[in-house]
Amino acid sequence: MTTFPDLNPPPRLLMGPGPVGVDPRVLRAMSMPMLGQFDPVFTAYMNETMAMLRSIYRTNNQWSFLIDGTARAGVETMLVSMIAPGDKVLVPIFGRFGHLLTEIASRCGAEVVSIEREWGTVFTPDEIEDAIRKHNPRIVAVVHGDTSTTMAQPLAEIGALCRSRDILLYSDATATLGGMAIEADAWQVDALSSGLQKCLSGPPGSSPITFNERVAAVVTRRKHLEAGIKPEGFVDGNGLRIASNYFDLAMLMDYWGPSRLNHHTEATSMLYAARESVRIALEEGDARFDRHVRASEALCAGLQAMGLTLFGDQANKMPNVTGVVIPKGVNADGVRTMMLEDFSIEIGTSFGPLHGKIWRIGTMGYVCRKENVLICLAALDACLRRFGYTAPAGAGVDAALTAYGSA
Ligand SMILES: Cc1ncc(COP(=O)(O)O)c(C=O)c1O
Repeated sequence: MTTFPDLNPPPRLLMGPGPVGVDPRVLRAMSMPMLGQFDPVFTAYMNETMAMLRSIYRTNNQWSFLIDGTARAGVETMLVSMIAPGDKVLVPIFGRFGHLLTEIASRCGAEVVSIEREWGTVFTPDEIEDAIRKHNPRIVAVVHGDTSTTMAQPLAEIGALCRSRDILLYSDATATLGGMAIEADAWQVDALSSGLQKCLSGPPGSSPITFNERVAAVVTRRKHLEAGIKPEGFVDGNGLRIASNYFDLAMLMDYWGPSRLNHHTEATSMLYAARESVRIALEEGDARFDRHVRASEALCAGLQAMGLTLFGDQANKMPNVTGVVIPKGVNADGVRTMMLEDFSIEIGTSFGPLHGKIWRIGTMGYVCRKENVLICLAALDACLRRFGYTAPAGAGVDAALTAYGSA
């Protein structure tokens, strides 16, 4: 019989655009014993998780819970439940994940209209307003932080624009939740979804979502319960049934809400992970956002001191991921491979129009620390040298140390 060795993953420093290193507290939480999904201890954990998600999204939304699956599962849940076939959906695209939103929205039967911005930039409120006037959508779906370009789209003005016209606004906050302040209520964003594996320092596999009563009303009209669990006397909604069972927000609301109507089996260990990830982020509070900004500033100072060029409009760059232009003539994959094999550090490649043009360096969550920024710069300096690009000796680490205020 073939036997296979024990798992023995090397201890990598994950400084790509996610996943990143998991906080040891989260790993410990994941090793806690199983509970039945309707055990009162477990349902109390579910309620606590909901309460913590309201805090991290800065919302009073009752409906703040987890979708079992990676961040994309949260995106699909929101879109398949909010969009009825034929609905007009406006997607402003400024990177790979805007294209993903258009793709998922069109699979949901939406009439998708999109506007595009060059990668490395974001939209002005006027550009969004013009598109809204022109297309009169029912829903606007926009990425908050597009990991592919490192840019964050400001949402507050878009929220106000949508609310004043009774348009629903959904945003994908996978790259930003836990790394940048998100103000779901103040910005008037009706629905948001995220993932654990970036600034929340958890493993991929759970997607925290939140949505308000405006979205709940749309979804509830589409509520059609599974025959085998339908309580006596329940009357289905008169809206079109949501096309997915697993991602049916109406049934998920009953599972997470007081009726605790059976749906899937909640992914117990992932709930432990999400609960602990968010608990850690809330304990740290706003200092967490400052930590990300400081790391970004130090990393950028270091890269520039090495003579490298930062990618994109720096005024709208996310603090948790930095794009750096690959110097001419340097073997991009060679450098990344050497970083991995010789230093055990992972940095990110890029997609689409940026492929082969930039690397993406993440400073997210648990990994976002001074020593990691310094080690990454030192390693990059050494690898670049081997591949023919010589930065002024020690300049990167020196500039980062200065940015951190070290003597
Ligand atoms: C902005 C954004 N949205 C969605 C996703 C999809 O997430 P997942 O791979 O967890 O499904 C990602 C992943 O990198 C992302 O960065």
